[in-house]
Amino acid sequence: MNNFIDIEDIDSNQLKKIMAFSAGLKAERKNISKGTKDFKKYLTNKVVALLFKKPSTRTRFSFEVGIFQMGGQTLTVSSNEMQISNFESMSDTARVLSQYLDMVVLRTDNHSDLIDLTNYSSIPIINGLSDKSHPCQVLSDIFTFEEIVGSIEGKKVVWLGDSNNVCNSYIQASNKLNFELVISGPREFLSSEIKSSPKFQYEMHPEQALQNADLIVTDTWYSMHHTKEERKLRQEIMQKYTLTNDLVNISKKNCLVFHCMPIYRNNEIMSDVADKFFEIFLKQAENRLHVQKGIMKWCFS
Ligand code: CP
Ligand code: NVA
Repeated sequence: MNNFIDIEDIDSNQLKKIMAFSAGLKAERKNISKGTKDFKKYLTNKVVALLFKKPSTRTRFSFEVGIFQMGGQTLTVSSNEMQISNFESMSDTARVLSQYLDMVVLRTDNHSDLIDLTNYSSIPIINGLSDKSHPCQVLSDIFTFEEIVGSIEGKKVVWLGDSNNVCNSYIQASNKLNFELVISGPREFLSSEIKSSPKFQYEMHPEQALQNADLIVTDTWYSMHHTKEERKLRQEIMQKYTLTNDLVNISKKNCLVFHCMPIYRNNEIMSDVADKFFEIFLKQAENRLHVQKGIMKWCFS
């Protein structure tokens, strides 16, 4: 049994194994309708809860459909409907949920919820995004890059904007999968995870950072867990990090642009740039489905 909480916890061979397995599952479903179950139903007789303390479109639907295709059952619940929103602790909740369920996917604005849930559960736990990280997104992104371009090893990835939860998972992935990661955003928002990374590269000026880039990744300037004040401050300070066509043109000729979505058009990315790369964003979103199926299979191994 494995938990999928952070990329830094997982051996690089295991990460590659998950992606290879996911590629196989994806290939098997070519030309098959979305509601058809997989040839081999790895989640038969398994019931999985998807718990959300924050809104979600991609994570929710990709997990629900993935679990259905794998022959399992889902229970999707907002934490507002549970006693954790009242006064019950995550540690007590974890022990109770382990009596009914085979696995839990949790989205939370407090990473320590995931630690408590993992420490007190006897079933696998998956991080469906926290204030600290978003490992399902980043493993799916790397899968998407490798599907289009080939191995990410040795490639130059530039993170543009707020060094947030998604960025933290990119940092962890760069350490595990040996790609170069340059972060370009306001220095004052660099997280402690990023500052303590052994391979940390920072470039304040996006025009410098983007030279020779194979992949540009951006995300919203403020995340779901940010307060009103934090949002206001980011909105004021981030203006020079909007991804424009001129900035894209500094990078390599066939450089890809990634955005995990949802998008604030004309904030972190100009609307025309988002339109130009939207097909790629859709591939990222689609691959959440396939890669999370690989992650779930791995959790039960
Ligand atoms: N990218 C992502 O995790 O999207 P949702 O917030 O819609 O799940
Ligand atoms: N950084 C964003 C990602 C959303 C998928 C957030 O946490 O709101």
